[in-house]
Amino acid sequence: MEGTLDYVRGSPSRGGICDIETGRTLGKWIPLKVWRRTDPLRTAKIVAMSQPYNRVFNFSAGPCTLPVEVLEETRDDLMNYKGTGMSVMEMSHRSKAYEAIIAEAESDLRSLMAVPDNYKILFLQGGASTQFATIPMSYLPAGKQADYVVTGAWGKKAVESAKIYGSANVVFDAKADNYNIVPNLAALNYTPDSAYVHFTTNETIQGVQFKSDPTLPGTLICDMSSDILSRPVDVSKYAMIYAGAQKNMGPAGATVVIIRDDLLARGPEGLAPMFDYKVHAENGSMYNTPACWSIYVCGLVYKYMLRNGGLTAMQGRCQAKADVLYNAIDNSGGFFKGHAKADCRSTMNVTFTLPDEELTKIFVKETEAAGLDGLKGHRSVGGCRASIYNAFPMEGCEALAAAMRDFSAKHG
Ligand SMILES: Cc1ncc(COP(=O)(O)O)c(C=O)c1O
Repeated sequence: MEGTLDYVRGSPSRGGICDIETGRTLGKWIPLKVWRRTDPLRTAKIVAMSQPYNRVFNFSAGPCTLPVEVLEETRDDLMNYKGTGMSVMEMSHRSKAYEAIIAEAESDLRSLMAVPDNYKILFLQGGASTQFATIPMSYLPAGKQADYVVTGAWGKKAVESAKIYGSANVVFDAKADNYNIVPNLAALNYTPDSAYVHFTTNETIQGVQFKSDPTLPGTLICDMSSDILSRPVDVSKYAMIYAGAQKNMGPAGATVVIIRDDLLARGPEGLAPMFDYKVHAENGSMYNTPACWSIYVCGLVYKYMLRNGGLTAMQGRCQAKADVLYNAIDNSGGFFKGHAKADCRSTMNVTFTLPDEELTKIFVKETEAAGLDGLKGHRSVGGCRASIYNAFPMEGCEALAAAMRDFSAKHG
């Protein structure tokens, strides 16, 4: 492999690595040159096998890979969480132990994202998709118009839901460009005095991402489901940020809502309590039984990020990992083509195509056999998608880049 990794490491107790020809398990540092042979995917296979517990490189778009040390902590806590004699899954959400878990998760998220005091953090259920409905239900009154910026599949779904409840105006739709760009938000024509403006920072399916927080007048609401916590954001620019947990935060189940007090106060009377942000805020996200386990794991992930340099460090790592893959695309002589325009490329979801459907199938099959899992692209874009959220290791990007180089050399 061209120079990035010199050694692979493993041990039998943590999954180990083994000679893919003989199956013999080895448990020490091994120079890669010893292993390099003619098999084009050999390097990728060896790197994949060096993952703890024989884990694969999981490129899934969500749910997705979580930090191994967090998984180990959940395992260690499973039978008896901190002397309570039970797991978090079995624990009353009204217990002292659980109250501490959710309070710590909230305060750690607040410090990670530097959330100002005039914002509430809520842990809700129903996924980001439920927010597509509760936002217009709450903040799009009759006689007002909400503006939506559509840069991909999730923004489109958000508009569809909004139209059920009120007047939703699409101020930008990248359909004509096959959703491979994002606009300059400051240059769009918004409705004067709109109820709010909604956009999606990172479109998970198409792999396009806004690169900075916009400065816009009015009420800005943002779906950050697939890039929250991957970089610092200026929360004060938004009236509301929401995100499903299952990419950068933890397992599916919890949905984080960060909402400014004045927007919260704007909510109408008479909503069913489960759809009323005020009710959730007044009850500390415990109006009903919260997604206890998901929130607990999110809390561990927040601590993991805090002790690993916070969001600035996450941003550096995410960019470095994405660069490895985009370089592999750009240096493939046109064999691989990136879906997103270069300045809109996502650091979370790298989308690319191969020359044809048959080669795509072979590539996905061969990489999967080599422990590079979940690369098949979404059916609406085709090709491949490598989702490389915060917890995804750099070694996986290097292994994929090596596999791409080998594959294009063989088939290009
Ligand atoms: C950007 C974005 N928004 C919304 C959703 C929907 O989230 P959920 O499945 O939690 O409803 C997703 C899911 O992948 C997403 O990526």
